[in-house]
Amino acid sequence: MAERNYKYMTEKELRELLDDMTLTEKAEQLVQLNGDFYGSSEELTGPAAEFNLTEEQTYRVGSILSEHGAAHLKQMQDKFISVQPHHIPAMFMADVIHGYKTSFPVPIALGASFDTELVKKTAEISAKEAAAAGIHVTFSPMADLSRDARWGRCMESFGEDPVLNSHMTAAMVKGFQGENCGEKGKVASCFKHFAAYGAVQAGRDYNVTELSEHTLYEDYLPAYKAAVDAGAEMAMTAFNTIDRVPCTVSKKLLTNILREEMGFEGVIISDYNAIGEAIIHSAAEDGRDAAKKAMNAGVDIDMMSDCYIHNLEELVKSGAVSENVLDEAVMRVLRLKNKLGLFEDPYKDASEEDEKRYLCCDEHMELSRKAAAECAVMLKNNGIFPLRAKKAVVIGSLCESREILGFWSFFADKSRTVTLRDALTQVCTDTEFEFIPSDAADEKALAAAKNADAVLLVLGEDQTFTGEARSCTDVSLPDAQKKLFEAVVSENKNTAVLLFGGRPLAIPELAENAAGILEMWLPGTAGCLGIADIISGNASPCGRLPMSFPYCTGQYPISYSAFNTGRPKDNSVKEYIPFLSNYMDAPNIPLYPFGYGLTYTTFEYSPVTLSGNEFTENGSITASVTVKNTGDRSGTETVQLYIRDVKGSVVRPLRELKGFRKITLEPQESKTVSFEITSDMLRFYGIDMEFAAEKGDFVLFIGGDGRTENSAEFKLI
Ligand code: NOJ
Repeated sequence: MAERNYKYMTEKELRELLDDMTLTEKAEQLVQLNGDFYGSSEELTGPAAEFNLTEEQTYRVGSILSEHGAAHLKQMQDKFISVQPHHIPAMFMADVIHGYKTSFPVPIALGASFDTELVKKTAEISAKEAAAAGIHVTFSPMADLSRDARWGRCMESFGEDPVLNSHMTAAMVKGFQGENCGEKGKVASCFKHFAAYGAVQAGRDYNVTELSEHTLYEDYLPAYKAAVDAGAEMAMTAFNTIDRVPCTVSKKLLTNILREEMGFEGVIISDYNAIGEAIIHSAAEDGRDAAKKAMNAGVDIDMMSDCYIHNLEELVKSGAVSENVLDEAVMRVLRLKNKLGLFEDPYKDASEEDEKRYLCCDEHMELSRKAAAECAVMLKNNGIFPLRAKKAVVIGSLCESREILGFWSFFADKSRTVTLRDALTQVCTDTEFEFIPSDAADEKALAAAKNADAVLLVLGEDQTFTGEARSCTDVSLPDAQKKLFEAVVSENKNTAVLLFGGRPLAIPELAENAAGILEMWLPGTAGCLGIADIISGNASPCGRLPMSFPYCTGQYPISYSAFNTGRPKDNSVKEYIPFLSNYMDAPNIPLYPFGYGLTYTTFEYSPVTLSGNEFTENGSITASVTVKNTGDRSGTETVQLYIRDVKGSVVRPLRELKGFRKITLEPQESKTVSFEITSDMLRFYGIDMEFAAEKGDFVLFIGGDGRTENSAEFKLI
């Protein structure tokens, strides 16, 4: 290791270091390259690039993307600190999104858990594994709200609701970073993609967005703000435009909103080649112009474009970028390296022994199993679950698939993946299974279906259908799967569907004719064991939809928190009504709403009671319900609070989630759940973009999903 005397640095020492650096060195700290430049990248999420750099230059940049492994990164670090003139260590960053070697359920599934402790725990374990493998920063969580399942990256989001999204985002940041990202086993968290990447038009990845300032502030910004408040050390810009400006060169977004309004003091990194793409968007003349715009907008690190490395020095010399702007960006990078402890120990936690000890260890595999069970959503159950059949046939190629970890499983240990077939055989020992791992509705499958007590049909999408650059125009089942379903059901009515996938699917035919539907998402390394726990009845399902399931793709974008419009249609009326806001060929509401999910028991809600019917800006009231488990099994219910603001200076959504509580009740047990209602919950961006509560009438709903009508009225006076 090199000559530097490694120690934790004071702010003064960091400034002295900065003052001693040449302009070239400063610019280099703001450049991030991927492993391709060192001949080793496994994960490429953009074009491989040729930047015309000398080998020495590649070892002088400030950070590296997608490299991993303790021995490898220690070796790389040695080279970096010996080549860099001030022996400044490099930061190693990677996409550890739903796990490193152990994969956990994908984020959309984690959203379904409505359990922030669980989400935090999965992030803690991911950080522990990644840190042992030498990684310092993870590009996670993705805080992008998503109301359109055509966008394949909805798999990486926590769904359609700003409040749920904010809670989950904050939990992940805390899990990754702990109290301090420099501690052993912690990594710095980079939330992304600032901003509103989930609003890409028509659900097509990398597309532009068109959204009002109200929608941006009301729906999309809260989760990023939650990441800032949770202490996230880094933020990543988005590929899309907002208001016709690429986010990566938008001073309004990065400086005015993220830094000034939200108070973010950490490092801002571009997404992969996003600075270079400003030219392709037609928003910059050339690499020099793009670098100037990005730097002046507030981007500290250029991920994988050659704009900063070739232009920053000259831009500062010519005065197009002030040296002060450059210095502050470099200081933020140095401060993060210091916080991570890299000036004390450039290897941080990289350790081959810890890799052996922690990667896919029993504890982590157990959490992967438990998490999948908690995230699965039972959409329908006519009594086929828990499975009591003596003889069942499992049909569908996905029952043997190992492609069930999710898009960000480049690093995962695939040799440990438990398939659904293995899991059912291991866990559901009272049932004798026959497996037909094929999607063909052929004689063999149909005869087996006919002779079985129950059929489990495994449908949906494997991990290759969702993730970055995986958008589609149709989220219904492929024709072959529909045909298989129809043919099997006509042989045996006792057919349940087990659905894999990273997005909501349009499945009206299953809702109509299946005996049961279990949404398993992409459950992770040991996730199928958790799914088998539910099927066997060892565990009860308790997941709730974080994104509505539509009747058909044409309903997108869709959310429970829609607006009334001037010509609303009563959703209980099935027929199309001319000159009202409705479709001729589909309902307005989704097939399964946000917050929906069944379990193995039933719950009864008392009417909502309020401690008072009105309160003032500084006051509050309490809203309560008593929930009773009316079945004969213990069960977990997610009690959800929604509020509707009846009139406002701008139009208000039909309802908005304001809180949720998960409770477990024994058979016949009752519990009272109370929420304190304050004026904070009623604030929104009014006609003048002032964030305030407006006096007037409100309706409050408490129930088990986004469609509950269990309500009470109150006033803010
Ligand atoms: C592009 C993706 O949009 C981003 O989320 C990811 O972190 C980077 N590539 C790095 O892999």
